[in-house]
Amino acid sequence: MTSQFLNACRREPVSHTPVWFMRQAGRSLPEYRDLRAGIAMLDSCRRPDLVCEITLQPVRRHGVDAAILFSDIVVPVAAAGVDLDIVPGTGPVVAEPIRSQADLARIGAWDPTSVSFVDEAVRLLVKELGPTPLIGFAGAPFTLASYLIEGGPSRNHARTKALMHGDPQLWHALCERLAEITLGFLRVQIEAGVSAVQLFDSWAGSLSAADYRSFVMPHSQRVLGGLADSGVPRIHFGVGTAPLLEAMAEAGADVVGVDWRTPLDAASERIGPDYAVQGNLDPVLLMAPWPVIEAEVARILTEGARTPGHIFNLGHGVLPETDPTVLTRVVELVHALSRGVSER
Ligand code: CP3
Repeated sequence: MTSQFLNACRREPVSHTPVWFMRQAGRSLPEYRDLRAGIAMLDSCRRPDLVCEITLQPVRRHGVDAAILFSDIVVPVAAAGVDLDIVPGTGPVVAEPIRSQADLARIGAWDPTSVSFVDEAVRLLVKELGPTPLIGFAGAPFTLASYLIEGGPSRNHARTKALMHGDPQLWHALCERLAEITLGFLRVQIEAGVSAVQLFDSWAGSLSAADYRSFVMPHSQRVLGGLADSGVPRIHFGVGTAPLLEAMAEAGADVVGVDWRTPLDAASERIGPDYAVQGNLDPVLLMAPWPVIEAEVARILTEGARTPGHIFNLGHGVLPETDPTVLTRVVELVHALSRGVSER
């Protein structure tokens, strides 16, 4: 059975619009909270049995068209020797932020065996999932660099931008290291059998298009271009990226992730016919009354049908307070409304 998700990534005909959700595995699910009780986030990412079970939970519960590997964008950076933790309610926190050439030397050489737990988890999952494709992922160099330079989550990425402009040589050296780690991490996942990959440049939307092109795009291009021969579709995603969509497509994507601020047909018009699009329901609207959600899903499917290939998703991740039964209803609705109509 061919996967509707992979067909849409390749801009081939689909029998229904495929749907999955960023952060579908996680705190919105009571079965996830039960399984994670007393186990630290990074420890759970390093246990293939847990990774496998947590990744499968939303597939079983919601009937989504793809699974996404349970891991985190900082996992390969930690594997390369950076001392960091994921603090509940905060996110990644780096013990000693990277702000100088000497700090940069604390990031070790990339060693694929340092993430053998990911290789093992993906192999287990590919067996368990059967026909459902597994999406692998990594953080893009800019978003990773922001965590490493700021030392944790940041509202305005002030130190990151100061270093980018103030010491471009160090900036590019750091991003080259991160691109090598990211590319290596994605290659491990592809060799183990993932069907597609998503590069999360979650915070790229904080940049002007000019800065994105000079300081960030070459490094993301190195990652996405390094996977061009893999045959695996590459999804490139960020939040608030309306001015960057063309550049993010050009960086080497097959599918461009679009947040709720830009209609999918408008995004597609701008990036052209060579790319599929993914998105773009505002995750906050999952808390609205059902008729509101229904109308939004219908609108997004209509706009998506005007693009060369549409994968339904949110514009960013599922919020922990989301009612999971609503997610299941959204999957059913996307499938019901799109059945037949998106055959093209
Ligand atoms: O279902 C999935 O999407 C797969 C799992 C996944 C996680 N993190 C698990 C996680 C994915 C794809 C990520 C990627 C990730 N991690 C991104 C890019 C996506 C995005 O949201 O833009 C970013 C920026 C991170 C960094 C990070 N890790 C943040 C901001 C947080 C949230 C902090 C918090 O507690 O609110 C984390 C922790 C994290 N990653 C959790 C999960 C399920 C929550 C930790 C927990 O359950 O204890």
